[in-house]
Amino acid sequence: MEKALSSWFLLPRCGVSSSISTLKTRVIMMFVMLFFLVSVTHVSALEVCPKCGRMDVPYPLSTNDDCGNPKYRVYCNNDNLEFLSATGFYYKVLSTNPSSYKLIISPPYILKNTCQSSDLALGGLMIDENSPFNISTHNTVMLLNCSENILLSPLNCSSNSLCRQFEERVVEGSGCRNTLCCTFLKDASMTSHRIRVRVGGCTAYTSVVDIKPGDPAEWWNFGVELQWLPPN
Ligand SMILES: *[C@@H]1O[C@H](CO)[C@@H](O)[C@H](O)[C@H]1NC(C)=O
Ligand SMILES: *[C@@H]1O[C@H](CO)[C@@H](O)[C@H](O)[C@H]1NC(C)=O
Ligand SMILES: *[C@@H]1O[C@H](CO)[C@@H](O)[C@H](O)[C@H]1NC(C)=O
Repeated sequence: MEKALSSWFLLPRCGVSSSISTLKTRVIMMFVMLFFLVSVTHVSALEVCPKCGRMDVPYPLSTNDDCGNPKYRVYCNNDNLEFLSATGFYYKVLSTNPSSYKLIISPPYILKNTCQSSDLALGGLMIDENSPFNISTHNTVMLLNCSENILLSPLNCSSNSLCRQFEERVVEGSGCRNTLCCTFLKDASMTSHRIRVRVGGCTAYTSVVDIKPGDPAEWWNFGVELQWLPPN
């Protein structure tokens, strides 16, 4: 590249009359080349990953060692963008928002005719403490089929708690009817790296992003919003 540049600048002049326009052309060409060089080095350092199915994979998310930032690993499995928990469970990524450093993953589905989350055997959602991702404070978590001792904790387990709506109005929650359930806003006072379920505690959960008081369950935006630490 350097050789090409210097030989280009050493091209013999074609004549006095054309020297002004030649100079102009050279300056323009110099900027074009400069731009080209800058964009080449820029892309190789910060390459954005290709789409996964129909989903964009914005920087720094990385589906592959040669794009994005490998610390922000997500997975593209059969054209589905997925987030891998610390325990090895894949959660579907529903949306990403790089300008606010957030993504929304799908809560695990509840096995049909039961009240058991598909990640129950793994203890629910767990994110590595050292990962750049954590659970944001915009999630209203509903714990389902809980044992009585959950009542000791500061959750809303009353008979008009929002989790009742999930059981009564959303098919997926119907297997949890007539059991104890509790709702809470996952705020900064709690661990931002896990939503726990276990046999003998609560066996299923769901989560709603940015719930608005009064909105019926049919309008809820089901998901777990995660945020990431911006690179650097
Ligand atoms: C529990 O949630 C329901 C529905 O949002 C609300 O009406 C009720 O006052 C809450 N109860 C407690 C104890 O916070
Ligand atoms: C509710 O939880 C108990 C144990 O905590 C479990 O034995 C039972 O199968 C669960 N109920 C449903 C409907 O999955
Ligand atoms: C979660 O991550 C955000 C951004 O990376 C950070 O500002 C926040 O302090 C973290 N929350 C906790 C409780 O670690």
